[in-house]
Amino acid sequence: MLNPIKLANKNFLSSLDTSSEEFLHILEIAKNFKNKKLNIEFKDKVLGLIFDKSSTRTRVSFQVAMSRLSGTTVDLNPTTSQIGRGEPIKDTARVLSRYCDVLAIRTFKHSDLEEYARWSSKPVINALTDLEHPCQALADYMTIKEEFVDFKDVILTFIGDGNNVANSLILYGALLGVEVRIACPKGYEPNDLVINRAKEIYKNKNLLKITNDPFTAVRGANVLYTDVWSSMGEENLKEEKDKDFFGFTIDQNLVRNADKDAIILHCLPAYRAKEITDEAIESKKSRIFEQAENRMHAQQSLLSCLLS
Ligand code: CP
Ligand code: NVA
Repeated sequence: MLNPIKLANKNFLSSLDTSSEEFLHILEIAKNFKNKKLNIEFKDKVLGLIFDKSSTRTRVSFQVAMSRLSGTTVDLNPTTSQIGRGEPIKDTARVLSRYCDVLAIRTFKHSDLEEYARWSSKPVINALTDLEHPCQALADYMTIKEEFVDFKDVILTFIGDGNNVANSLILYGALLGVEVRIACPKGYEPNDLVINRAKEIYKNKNLLKITNDPFTAVRGANVLYTDVWSSMGEENLKEEKDKDFFGFTIDQNLVRNADKDAIILHCLPAYRAKEITDEAIESKKSRIFEQAENRMHAQQSLLSCLLS
């Protein structure tokens, strides 16, 4: 029977914190948890959740994943803890890691997450920063693998903002050798460091394509993916971004130009009629709710590896 392996890196801050072998192992373990072929207990282990931003899926999927492992969670937010008062991260991290066995943190600046990891004696998981959302990408590629069995020849097109979700998809795409196309308005391209790092990993395979034309990007694509145009913390940019992203909605017109067996993904929460139509979310091609379910299985697997 396959059992969780200890990962080489202590933390999971980025898609690049696992090797491709470790990544595939996490997905395999996740599949076994999902199919109820694996039952592992981490009794008395505690996951600390620190959420500086709102969350439904990430918070609940972590809580349920930990309870399925027979462990428990403590959920902290800035208003009910001393974090909102401005207690230094290096103090919070040192204290919490004496109580908890692993920490999952959702915050704004990626450098704050790295600061937690620097001072925590226990593994730290990125539950979303402005730069990356690697737990989301784990579930996304798990969903893609369920559909297409392996990643060979899969073309993943992300239409929308070159944001945290896009960055993590690109990095795993590079690790797995998946062709990733990003279609975004000018000025909304993914982070330069992420693009350069991905290109290094892809070596000279030209598999990362960034364009401003969604129709070119979806041609022959197997996976159409989008996320909100304005992320958490960008509420003041909503009006401007809604205008800039006009024409970047995943709708039936765009879907028709993709591969005939293409699937549609969205990390949720969605703004229907903005980045995606209600029809696309509810269509037969949508795997959006399977993808949301997979957050729980993928994170149960990740936790079991980090706690091993
Ligand atoms: N996709 C995702 O991370 O959702 P939440 O913001 O609800 O956690
Ligand atoms: N890009 C979005 C993802 C939400 C899950 C945000 O950061 O708000």
